[in-house]
Amino acid sequence: MRRLIIAGNWKMYKNISESLELTNGLKRELYDIENIDIVLCPVFTSLASVSEVLTDSNIQLGAQDVYWQKEGAFTGEISASMLKDAGCLFVIIGHSERRQYFSESNQSVNQKLKAVLESGMAPIVCVGETLKQREANKTLDIIKEQLQEGLEGISAEDAGRLIIAYEPVWAIGTGKNATATQAEEVHAYIRSLLEKIYTKDIAASIRIQYGGSVKPGNIEELMQQPDIDGALVGGASLNVDSFSEIIKISQRVRK
Ligand code: PGA
Repeated sequence: MRRLIIAGNWKMYKNISESLELTNGLKRELYDIENIDIVLCPVFTSLASVSEVLTDSNIQLGAQDVYWQKEGAFTGEISASMLKDAGCLFVIIGHSERRQYFSESNQSVNQKLKAVLESGMAPIVCVGETLKQREANKTLDIIKEQLQEGLEGISAEDAGRLIIAYEPVWAIGTGKNATATQAEEVHAYIRSLLEKIYTKDIAASIRIQYGGSVKPGNIEELMQQPDIDGALVGGASLNVDSFSEIIKISQRVRK
């Protein structure tokens, strides 16, 4: 059985003191959750302080992006080892907002992925189609291209540490989530692709999160699907009550 992983992507919200307030609230609410990996991904400037508060807790730290070079004259960028130094164990790569607003491609995703794996952290690689692509029946083709190009050259050994997040772009921040059936269809397809790229056993061990308007009201149905192994949560992760509710419901469904 794959262990669930639920990550909060705080995007560009919350300064340091707000980040600490949210983290402390979540620690209080979630201290007894045992069978779920809980990950918080604050803005870069909050990472080190949040990391301190998370010491000895059951909540782990992740970053929202990374640059693939180790160090150098790359103004504004941050390396995998710097994120690790700040306490991160996870890094989100290729979020659709990065692809849309910052020209990220499957090739840059691939380079970032290699850097994160080399650092020993676990990458959360985002894939997903736009509304236009879904309406043109291109969803599975797009997912295939994003995965094949994104995972190019990643060894079977490293693939075990991968986490994939299926995030239909039309469902992100829109309040319009994919139905559990729509999501499961793509998740099962992703797992079949991973089987082809790697092996059945490796594909069976890789966790695939769903993301896009996840909230307390729709998490139960999503978590009941056999190939959905957690969630990447944006808006609903910015609030103690909604994020902890999502996690508690998931624990109940998967117990
Ligand atoms: P949302 O964002 O939950 O606000 O739709 C999800 C994401 O972008 O990861």
